[in-house]
Amino acid sequence: MGGPILNLLFFGDVVGKGGRRAVASITPQLRQKYNCQFVVANAENSACGAGLTQSSLKEMPGVDVFTAGDHVWDRKEFEQEINGIKNVIRPANLSKKQPGKGWDYFRNPVGGDVAVISLMGKVFMKDSAYCPFETVEEILKEIPITVKCIIVDFHAEATSEKLAMAHFLDGKVTAVFGTHTHVQTADARVSANGTAAITDVGMVGGNNSILGRSCEDVLRKFRIGMPCKLAVVEEDIRCDAVVLSYEMNTGKAVSLTPLSIMFDPDKEI
Ligand SMILES: [Fe+2]
Ligand SMILES: [Fe+2]
Repeated sequence: MGGPILNLLFFGDVVGKGGRRAVASITPQLRQKYNCQFVVANAENSACGAGLTQSSLKEMPGVDVFTAGDHVWDRKEFEQEINGIKNVIRPANLSKKQPGKGWDYFRNPVGGDVAVISLMGKVFMKDSAYCPFETVEEILKEIPITVKCIIVDFHAEATSEKLAMAHFLDGKVTAVFGTHTHVQTADARVSANGTAAITDVGMVGGNNSILGRSCEDVLRKFRIGMPCKLAVVEEDIRCDAVVLSYEMNTGKAVSLTPLSIMFDPDKEI
């Protein structure tokens, strides 16, 4: 009925060069270990810790689709680059005049298609976005019925907004993965209606850091309040991700396994 079970790997926000290197190295290993046929990564912090560029994405060849978030336009050149990159999805609930696309679907090499939708929250986010609930409702009407696996990256700050989205999409999509806080939450689950969800997947970034940035720099900013450069931590990278298993023929999730692995370039996982 549900057909074969397929596995999809999703990385939380990839931060800087250290994050890119870790993803490049660990993706083939995780593909093999968890038999993952498709890989998605949130790359909004992949270029120097803020934004994306074509060259930063090229350094992660094992990733099938990249998503973004509130930092999507931090690198000026990306405005020109994004329409030339087929596998990048930026938040859908932004102005239609912005370049790029908010969702698309992609062939899974072992069978079926995978739709990826990127949405941004409105609560405690600095950029104004359209209502993510209305936006995703419209997108779901446009996705062809033949596309069974639907992955939503909900890039948002407030746990309440992310839980509300998971509830709203329950039974309508395969998975709702929260990103943006860079801290993995302990609530990975699959609902009775076959939707997997986690409030935040976490990040691929420096373990001894504050959201991938130097603890000293961030602390100084909080204490003194002066604008200052927040150095990206490029070593001791923690790889936060989830492995989603789903039925190919129905798109229903069957399990969601959170991973949080310290990356050691000299060791296989
Ligand atoms: Fe981020
Ligand atoms: Fe973000």
